[in-house]
This record gives sequence, structure tokens and C-alpha cells, in this order.
Amino acid sequence: MSTLLPILPPSDLSDENTSETLSPAAQKAEEEKNAMRKYFQKPGSQSELTGVAEQEPVCLYLETTNRCNLLCVTCPRTYEELEPEADMPWDMFTSLIDQYPKIARVVLHGIGEPMLVKDIAQRVKYLKDRGIYVLFNTNGTLLNDTNGRALIEAGLDELRVSLDAAESEVYQMVRGKDFFDKIVKNVKNFTTLQKQMNAPKPRVSLWLTGLRETVDQLPNFVRLAHEVGVTEVYLQRLVFFDEGSNGLARAESALFEHTTAAEEALIKEAEDVAAELGVMFSASGAVDPGESIRMQQNDAPWSLCRRPWSLMYITANGRVLPCCIAPFSMKGYGAFTLGDATQSSLRDIWNGEEYQRFREGLLTSAPPPACSNCGLRWSL
Ligand SMILES: C[S@@+](CC[C@H](N)C(=O)[O-])C[C@H]1O[C@@H](n2cnc3c(N)ncnc32)[C@H](O)[C@@H]1O
Ligand code: SF4
Ligand code: SF4
Repeated sequence: MSTLLPILPPSDLSDENTSETLSPAAQKAEEEKNAMRKYFQKPGSQSELTGVAEQEPVCLYLETTNRCNLLCVTCPRTYEELEPEADMPWDMFTSLIDQYPKIARVVLHGIGEPMLVKDIAQRVKYLKDRGIYVLFNTNGTLLNDTNGRALIEAGLDELRVSLDAAESEVYQMVRGKDFFDKIVKNVKNFTTLQKQMNAPKPRVSLWLTGLRETVDQLPNFVRLAHEVGVTEVYLQRLVFFDEGSNGLARAESALFEHTTAAEEALIKEAEDVAAELGVMFSASGAVDPGESIRMQQNDAPWSLCRRPWSLMYITANGRVLPCCIAPFSMKGYGAFTLGDATQSSLRDIWNGEEYQRFREGLLTSAPPPACSNCGLRWSL
């Protein structure tokens, strides 16, 4: 789900809080993280916000495909068809961008594997020609010399590889297939290629969705990142359904609600390994890993969320959703569909009735159902 998250416009980058122990690339990532914190705090206090968004979105999530070649036990896609299988048609893709050609940031994944899209590099190029910051998460199975080179040449800013484990058996348990060694090799080859091409971009990171079953992987996960030439590691919040949860996307597996001292110690150990190796270790939502598993002291933590005032998420079929968390927090898309981009313009949807009602709900003590666990059962 950023992933799932970061939605920082590049112009918001600042230079504060740079650590001297990090490698230059990891330092850059640390700077973005700090700037992102400011970004999340930025848009007005609760009393200033209304159902109408005064500003245009700064970020679009475009689900370039909802197809996938893995069967991750944390992902709703493994258990149900959320929408008819589709790649977002090129014409839809360009028409969405052309409605907001000055958007700061575009994320090219939703629920599906973006590297299955044959012209993914061409799509990156279309965005980079407009000066947009572009990133996506990938499962890394299909990354090779040809598409890797094409992504570098297209100017991709960030490539986030969801690996979830530091060893093959655990990988297979979480991701459903035996691709661990291949992905590790793909990532190593990619960072080597970047060095050969003298290409500082994209920033490459490894992601692990936090599960009680795999938290012990973290210290070696950081070591593995270092071995394959990656300078950023992220602990992703686990989001799950309240009812009818699937696989390991369930309350019992979440670190947020009941972290033991042993689990906290593993996170601390991973932080120490990261500091020693000059790797930046962070969490989704621009917080530190330890912080990401602690609850906020707030009666209505969801009301701190600013995503419906800053971004739009559009599925491969053109359905508009409020964020990248909701598909993991509630079954089906019906309860949080805010428009149809094949029928209406994004501007009409952005301040349409559905969006306004959703935003108004988020500011109350009775939020939309998809939001009611945000900040309570997982970090924002
Ligand atoms: C849905 S995937 C789409 C992109 C790509 N297929 C991938 O796996 O990176 C986006 C991110 O969501 C993560 N994810 C999967 N299940 C999750 C869950 N229940 N809670 C939070 N993140 C999850 C994935 O590991 C990945 O980093
Ligand atoms: S998390 Fe990504 S790779 Fe795994 S099933 Fe979901 S979309 Fe596919
Ligand atoms: S509070 Fe609602 S809009 Fe915000 S991240 Fe959670 S589900 Fe999305």
C-alpha cells in the first residue's frame, strides 16, 4: 500500500536532520522521510478542513494493472477478484495525466504487479516528460537487464521492491511462490547496472510487510539489502480486514496491536544493523519503525489522515478510491468508491458529492467504515 504511502511532492524536500552515519543515497532518503513528516502535518488543522478540497490533488495512484503473478498471503488479490482483470489502457492513462499535467507525484501500482505491463517504461517516460516524480512498488520477479535499463533511461525516480523475507522458505510462506533467489539476483543485477550506467536514479528500496511471523527476518533483511547494493529498507504496516480476514492479513499477525518485548528488540536490532551498515531503515507513513508499531494517543486517529485532500487512486478499470489503504482495510470496493473516471472528469469527481461526503465523514467520530481502524489497528 504505498506505498503503500509516501505522497510527498518533490518540491517539499528539505535538508534537515541528515545523519552523518548514512551513505549518501541513504541520507537522501532520510531527508525525504523528514520532509514527508512535515508534509503529513501540513494541510490545515481539522477545524479548517471541510468536505471540499481547496487544493487540487498532489498525487495520483494509477493502477497500471490489476494482474499479478504471485499469491501473497497478505494481499486481498490472492483471495478474490476485486475487479475484472485489466491493464489500464494507454488512452485512459494519458487522459488521466492530461487532466492534471502538473501533478507533483504519480505512483504506478495499485493491487497488481506493474512490471507485467509491457509498456511500463513508456508510461514512466510520459510522466517524466512532464516533470512528475514517479515511483512504483514491484514484486521484483520480472526485473531484468532489458526492462531495468528501460526504466533507468525513462527516468524512474523510485523503485520499491517488496521482498518480505530474508530467506527463501519464509519468502515462499508469505509470497506464495518460490522466487526469492531470483528476486535477490534481479535486484543485485539492477544496482550493478545502475553503477555501470552511472545512474543515481531510481532510488531502490526493499520492503517488508510487518508480521509477527516474520519480524525475526528484519536484521538479516537489512544485511541482505546492503549485500545487494540497496541503501533503504522499509517496514510496511500490515493492514487487514476486521471480518473475514484472509491468510496472514489478520489482527493476530499485526505488530501494531500487541508487540512483545522480543519483537521490539528485533526491530531495535535491525535499526542497529542498519546504522552500522549505513542503510536507512524506516517505516511506511514516514515514521521510524519503532514508532510505526505504537498506537497514537488520539480518540479519532483517522481524522489525522489527509489523503482524501491530497491524492486520488484510480484502478485499472477507472474506479476512483480515496487512498491505497482502503483496499486492504475493507472487503470489496463498493463502500469507498468515489467516482468513475471513465464517465466523469477527475476535477468533477474530486469535489463531487461522494468525495465530499467521504471527507466530511473522516472528520467526525463516525468515519467511513474503511477508515475506522486507521491509526488504531495500524499506523497512518
Ligand atoms: C499490493 S502491492 C502492489 C505492487 C506489487 N505487486 C508489490 O507487491 O510490490 C503494494 C504493496 O502492498 C504490500 N502489501 C501486501 N499486502 C499488504 C497488507 N495486508 N498490508 C499492507 N501492505 C500490504 C505489498 O507487499 C507491496 O509492498
Ligand atoms: S502484494 Fe503485490 S505481488 Fe503480492 S499478490 Fe498482491 S499485488 Fe501481487
Ligand atoms: S483514514 Fe481512510 S482515507 Fe485515510 S488512509 Fe485510512 S482508509 Fe484511507
